[in-house]
Amino acid sequence: MFKQNRKKITVFVAMAACVTLGIAAHTPEKKQGGFQNLKILPKDISKDSLHHVMEFFSKSLGVHCDFCHAKSKDPNQRWPDFASEDKPEKEIARKMMMMSGEINAKYFNWMNSTQPDTIRNVTCVTCHHGTPHPESTVAPEAPHGPGGPGAPPPPPAKQ
Ligand code: HEC
Ligand code: HEC
Repeated sequence: MFKQNRKKITVFVAMAACVTLGIAAHTPEKKQGGFQNLKILPKDISKDSLHHVMEFFSKSLGVHCDFCHAKSKDPNQRWPDFASEDKPEKEIARKMMMMSGEINAKYFNWMNSTQPDTIRNVTCVTCHHGTPHPESTVAPEAPHGPGGPGAPPPPPAKQ
């Protein structure tokens, strides 16, 4: 079932990235990228769109490209070898793309939406907030939200 949805989910991961970036497009570039190792993003993605997605990943995690992309084997090449699969973070990122797409498709695709495919609630930044390691525990000094200490107790929860 998930496999069937894969294409849809993918496109929408890519779109989520672009939409979140807003109108980051400077000069629209229609040129096809001819990328070698795309397993999730559409293989015919334009260079421009791919770059937007990658910028979005980097900003969401607060990292540079080389966080996921392995160093080039050519010592004279200062850019990473983007097609290389040598850095495990790249594969983790793929899992994260699938996960985000699946969460959106499964849990945010409200039945009543007239445009179910356009609901994009969960993206990399939702969890990552500019860090590769999202918080998994509450900081001791974290505020308690509206009210805080001394505020009247919340109404009893409904059963
Ligand atoms: C969080 C991890 C991550 C970061 C950060 C990241 N990328 Fe990527 N990048 C990926 C993944 C994953 C793929 C493969 C996507 C797929 O399989 O569809 C990829 C693919 C690419 C490709 C295509 C390579 C090919 O030929 O197959 C290029 C080019 C690229 N990234 C450039 C960049 C640039 C430039 C940056 C920095 C602005 C960047 N990436 C930052 C994860 C990342
Ligand atoms: C539902 C929350 C959530 C979403 C959405 C999410 N991530 Fe993550 N991600 C995590 C958690 C939690 C970890 C584990 C962090 C750790 O090990 O400290 C993680 C780890 C990672 C890592 C490995 C970091 C490391 O140092 O090993 C990468 C790369 C990554 N995420 C990329 C992404 C990208 C790219 C996206 C968007 C396509 C994304 N994530 C969306 C929660 C999320």
